[in-house]
Amino acid sequence: ASDLLIDPFQRRVNYLRLSVTDRCDFRCVYCMSEHMTFLPKVELLTLEELDRLCTAFIHMGVEKLRITGGEPLVRKGIMTFFEGMSRHLDSGALKELTLTTNGSQLARFAQPLYDAGVRRVNVSLDTLDNDKFADITRWGRLPQVLKGIEAAQNAGLRVKLNAVAVKGFNDGELFDLTQFCAERDMDLTFIEVMPMGEDIENAARLGQFWSLKDLRNDLAERFTLTDLSERSGGPARYVRVEETGQKIGFITPLSHNFCESCNRVRVTCTGEIYTCLGQEGKSDLRNALRADTNSNEPLNAAIRAAIGLKPKGHDFDYSRQDVAGRMTRHMSHTGG
Ligand code: GTP
Ligand code: 5AD
Ligand code: SF4
Repeated sequence: ASDLLIDPFQRRVNYLRLSVTDRCDFRCVYCMSEHMTFLPKVELLTLEELDRLCTAFIHMGVEKLRITGGEPLVRKGIMTFFEGMSRHLDSGALKELTLTTNGSQLARFAQPLYDAGVRRVNVSLDTLDNDKFADITRWGRLPQVLKGIEAAQNAGLRVKLNAVAVKGFNDGELFDLTQFCAERDMDLTFIEVMPMGEDIENAARLGQFWSLKDLRNDLAERFTLTDLSERSGGPARYVRVEETGQKIGFITPLSHNFCESCNRVRVTCTGEIYTCLGQEGKSDLRNALRADTNSNEPLNAAIRAAIGLKPKGHDFDYSRQDVAGRMTRHMSHTGG
């Protein structure tokens, strides 16, 4: 169709990551500062606006929708939004409706999410140690998340764990995390920590950078790993662990840039579109949404204009000691 979203580098955008709130019930150290100022509620897109926005993207060929935050499940009324999106699954226009969550609310939401057509959830979990978990999430409690994961699996949701690899923090848990997922038939992906947030935090994070090349080598000392060539249309590269049969993904924006095959854009809870996670460039969609509530013309035009500005790749660079290699924006702003 002529109305697909194609960027200046001939990449087709068929994946929207939508942040529905900047709030979270945790305060992960690499994601938020301890005292975050949250947006006043009036700044947020309403549930109706979120629906209109997603529907517009879906009409322009978006087939995969991932809901993020903050923590998406703390947004009031969020199930109404998920239930609304079901119609696009039913029509076949939307192939996958999913979310990335910290798991804290999953015990309550797993079944309703499944009923709305969600089949997979990504849960962020970096450690299986109660004390370490409390340290890195500041406000989180591990047992609550473990209950949430169990509830998700019982409801029939496929669970993928995302673990941010932080040197000196969870490097000792590589095998435990791998085993934990193998026993529960869950997928596992390791993510390189990206330099985002305040400068002081970025500086601290430089010492925590754990290249996933090193992590892979550590894993290979215990397990037999086979590289899988398939790329699930996402940034992860996968290996199969022969001993357990499980698949492990590596998301390596720093040590192996995957921008050339990028298929995604992000929209924040205030309706700003970021066409790259690792760039400051953004455009506003909220004004276009509100310009005409009877027509999506202004919105469609604004989306197209934004896609026309999608950069070739990110600017993350740990080797640069100036702030230019870092991002001042917090990860919670764009939802990862
Ligand atoms: P699936 O492949 O569908 O499971 O999803 P995903 O891995 O893309 O989604 P998820 O929310 O689990 O992503 C995990 C993390 O990978 C994100 O939170 C980001 O930190 C990182 N990531 C995802 N997409 C990109 C991207 O385009 N660029 C960069 N630099 N990082 C990304
Ligand atoms: N670098 C890499 N990943 C991050 N996440 C949050 N902040 C960062 C960062 N600075 C991850 C979370 C979650 C996903 C949404 O983003 O752990 O898995
Ligand atoms: Fe919340 Fe996720 Fe950020 Fe942690 S990483 S503070 S769970 S949004």
